[in-house]
Amino acid sequence: RKTAPLPDDIRAMKRGTPIVSLTAYTTPMAQMMDAHCDFVLVGDSVGMVLHGLSSTLGVTMDMMVMHGQAVARGLSSAMMVIDMPFGSYEEGPEQAFRNAARLMAETGAGAVKLEGGVAMAGTIAFLVARGIPVMAHVGLTPQSINTLGGYKVQGRGDAGATLKADAKAVAEAGAFAVVLEKVPESLANAITGAIGIPTIGIGASAGCDGQILVVDDMLGLFTAFKAKFVKRYAELGKDAETAIAAYAEDVRARRFPGPEHVFGDGVARTKP
Ligand code: KIV
Ligand code: NA
Repeated sequence: RKTAPLPDDIRAMKRGTPIVSLTAYTTPMAQMMDAHCDFVLVGDSVGMVLHGLSSTLGVTMDMMVMHGQAVARGLSSAMMVIDMPFGSYEEGPEQAFRNAARLMAETGAGAVKLEGGVAMAGTIAFLVARGIPVMAHVGLTPQSINTLGGYKVQGRGDAGATLKADAKAVAEAGAFAVVLEKVPESLANAITGAIGIPTIGIGASAGCDGQILVVDDMLGLFTAFKAKFVKRYAELGKDAETAIAAYAEDVRARRFPGPEHVFGDGVARTKP
């Protein structure tokens, strides 16, 4: 693909070849995934993955803008979606518009993502009607961790109908796609079949219209904990620590820098 897809192109991938996406927070990571992903999400997971926060609640608009700008510099063929951080949209549609407009204007993102179902449907419709494409996010919504009472599977048993209603509400409100996080496989499949916009699964099911993972999780760079739904495709964190330990040993043994890393005095040598 030569030019980045628009939200409508992502929407049109419903029931087609699965939509591929990852999170990114920096330019080099965005460059590595640009050719392989349909969209890249500047997730508020950045707070936990890169800033050492214990949840996403402390992530600010300024942090999102800064990481969004970095990611934008690394993308040319994937669409960029950016998370609205906790506290930047829940108060009402006007607050949401103000902050979504700032994120898009200052980063060049093609869409925003926000968490919530029925409760956010009015806000989603307000943004979409004013030119802001919205990706929704239901199921486990990490910004609500304090009311959800932990990072547990969402929508089991009777809660399944509520979650399905959330997914339907955001679709009807005009979201172009919806992330389903940590929900039973059977419910993810049922929701995917019941709504007209793509479902993007994370801890959901292979039957979703697309998948997303936190890039630092799948590369083995974030190792504080590993959710069941994460597949590690590499162990870059272990590789990095091994390399750092080797460097430390070389410095202490005066093996680094070697002759190839140092500079002469610039005086031409006389031949014997
Ligand atoms: O912030 C994030 O990384 C996300 C994805 C896990 C969907 O919201
Ligand atoms: Na997020």
